[in-house]
Amino acid sequence: MTAIFKNHDMTGKVALVTGAASGLGRMTALKLAAAGADLWLVDVNADGLAETIELLAPTGRTAGSEVADLSSPEACHAVVAHALEKFGRLDALCNVAGLIYLANTAQMPQGQYERTIDVNLNAPFFLSQAAIPHLLASDAEGGGAIVNVTSCASYIGEAYAAAYCASKWGLLGMTKAMAMEFQKQPIRINAVAPGGMITNIITNFAPPENCDFELLKRFSGMRGQVEVEDVADLIVLLASPAGRGFHGSCLSLDAGITAG
Ligand SMILES: NC(=O)c1ccc[n+]([C@@H]2O[C@H](COP(=O)([O-])OP(=O)(O)OC[C@H]3O[C@@H](n4cnc5c(N)ncnc54)[C@H](O)[C@@H]3O)[C@@H](O)[C@H]2O)c1
Repeated sequence: MTAIFKNHDMTGKVALVTGAASGLGRMTALKLAAAGADLWLVDVNADGLAETIELLAPTGRTAGSEVADLSSPEACHAVVAHALEKFGRLDALCNVAGLIYLANTAQMPQGQYERTIDVNLNAPFFLSQAAIPHLLASDAEGGGAIVNVTSCASYIGEAYAAAYCASKWGLLGMTKAMAMEFQKQPIRINAVAPGGMITNIITNFAPPENCDFELLKRFSGMRGQVEVEDVADLIVLLASPAGRGFHGSCLSLDAGITAG
């Protein structure tokens, strides 16, 4: 028998990755391909998705992609159906897509609040809903897997990020609730909680008007950023047979931001 944490082999398995056009989602796609998985990649950003597909070419894996805005339940159900049409199976769902709007709570436009909840919280729910019957049918060691990307903002309050924190605390709770519901069935449901990573979500960071920069310091912690690659490795761990012992876990990789 293969020792725990050793067998990352996903040959013959299929993973659906959202947010695959950039940052952590792209890195996750590359790492899953290196582990042998075939991929169905989804993002709202068509150009970035096409670049990811190009980067995957040398891996020799089969990778299909779909441009979709995951802010509606219908879109979430459709992308899972399309992955199934393409591959006939699904072994892992990696919910990586996400966004943040920083805002003074009293002035945050309703649309920004709703989009944050739709993309960061509702989409993982509806994608999971559509994927679960297929993940339960997976013959992967340890069962099919859902990996949600939460955040250090699932554990702490971050100023000017009430909507984002609500979505990410919610996603953490949802991960654990689903894990409890499926205690007796062959599926594993887990999450990773990154600290700051240098990706588009950070480089496009727009501080709200008249914000107190001392409050914003909480976002960066004392030890700097974490590496996108390290977080992607954790996602692969949880998605692959190496993670067979994980269920209902949220693995923090945040350089100490949530330590206290
Ligand atoms: N970068 C950080 O510091 C950090 C820290 C903690 C958690 N996270 C989380 O990591 C995940 C990945 O983010 P990232 O850092 O790679 O940033 P990123 O902006 O590079 O990637 C996010 C991806 O999600 C996609 N996306 C956004 N809205 C979408 C929608 N409606 N439908 C489909 N796709 C959509 C974007 O197009 C983008 O490709 C997010 O869930 C984010 O909340 C990031």
